[in-house]
Amino acid sequence: MGDPIDVRLDALSSGAPLRPEARRHTAVAPRNGRTFYLETFGCQMNFHDSEKVAGVLLSRGYQQVDSPDEADLVLYNTCSIREKAAQKVFSRLGHWRGGNAQRIIGVLGCVGQQEGEAIFERAPWVSLVCGSASYRKLPQLLAELEAGHRRVTGLDTDTEETFETEFTRRDHPFRAYLTIIEGCDKSCAYCVVPFTRGPERSRASDSILAEVRGLVELGYSEVQLLGQNVNAYRDPSPKRLSFAELLAAVAQVAGIRRVRFTTSHPRDFHPEIVQAIDAHPALCDHVHLPVQSGSTRVLSLMRREYTRDQYLERVACVRSAHRPISLTTDIIVGFPGETAQDFEETLTLLDEVQYDGAFSFKFSPRPNTAALALPETVPEEEKGRRLTVLQERQRTIQQRRNEALIGQTFEVLVDGRSRLEQWVGRTSSNRVVNFTTRRENLLGEYVQVRITRAGPHSLVGEQVIPS
Ligand code: 5AD
Ligand code: SF4
Repeated sequence: MGDPIDVRLDALSSGAPLRPEARRHTAVAPRNGRTFYLETFGCQMNFHDSEKVAGVLLSRGYQQVDSPDEADLVLYNTCSIREKAAQKVFSRLGHWRGGNAQRIIGVLGCVGQQEGEAIFERAPWVSLVCGSASYRKLPQLLAELEAGHRRVTGLDTDTEETFETEFTRRDHPFRAYLTIIEGCDKSCAYCVVPFTRGPERSRASDSILAEVRGLVELGYSEVQLLGQNVNAYRDPSPKRLSFAELLAAVAQVAGIRRVRFTTSHPRDFHPEIVQAIDAHPALCDHVHLPVQSGSTRVLSLMRREYTRDQYLERVACVRSAHRPISLTTDIIVGFPGETAQDFEETLTLLDEVQYDGAFSFKFSPRPNTAALALPETVPEEEKGRRLTVLQERQRTIQQRRNEALIGQTFEVLVDGRSRLEQWVGRTSSNRVVNFTTRRENLLGEYVQVRITRAGPHSLVGEQVIPS
């Protein structure tokens, strides 16, 4: 997952929005007064949480700086989905060993929630530990630190409130993120999220729709609805909108042209969602539907609440839509008890489904999870081998699927320039398209691009300019 990368570039290069990775927020020029540095690891929800944290700090008079060495307040918004992600934070914290009384070091997010006050023992120079469910308390925690408190924590996960703030500093110029449901009530055996983000809490539909209208006023036409299990959304307001009804309502907000949502759990993925996509062109042609394994036996060990066949029924439903919908997934290899035969079933699932993208990971044991009780049966080396085989198989599938698009024309929302003096953007199906044109100043525009070449991870084309 590499080193921190610029938010804008990362937004262009990442496929599945909830893919954990590190991001560093781009900075504004430092001015006098208190300064903060914020580095984010993890999924799109963490990234969006950081936009809110930055907004709150800016509203309190802090200035954001580019380098932690220049900052009075250094914050890491952390991820603990796999051990490697969690370790990265401790290596960042190691940099401040010994501490500096003038500088406040804080750990936000999933490692903060998971480790709690133990962080103070491991890194005594840390002063602030706060999980995502407690971000509403951040201004108060900061005030306590400013008043001279040595250590403060925000670690409740049972709060009814989702973190709503008027101070969100948005990093992506053309795509705005909104959290519609926090936490997770599932209990997948490998997953730390229910422990780090707490139980499910949905946000009232009116509040979501008001934010979407506000985003249109700010100039956004693409929004992405976020939740660890986004389609478990249950409107707590008297309107009681289902997730599919909420999608339809967001799609109908004047000025909204693209609506994305992630991540969907197969168990809660109902045909009404596909019907909504059929009925509303603004709902994008993309569903991210993590399968995790192609073996019903492993799915049961993972406590995923569906079988291979039930998953394939969901896929058939997506494939029955009136327009082609791109399907992407997440897969874990080497889960405890995964045999060579189970792994083979994951490979045949790839062949059967023909995903347009897949994020795959070696199983990593996490604190508190049920899988810790299962003996690890797949050696690290074999996990690595399976990962390579799987990625190679998927790469071939993607290459073939993308080549089939050559000659077709797609609408692309332009969000940057690529290295080769081309423009770059995404289709509704979330494919990255690099393209040439004789036009200038295309940033933020929707253009038609005819595909001329295809790689496994992106397409190349040329703009079709209406005569
Ligand atoms: N080990 C490896 N991968 C994991 N994921 C979640 N927990 C683990 C774990 N303990 C993967 C899943 C999930 C994605 C975000 O991360 O595939 O969908
Ligand atoms: Fe990482 Fe999961 Fe937390 Fe996102 S919710 S930051 S993926 S542990």
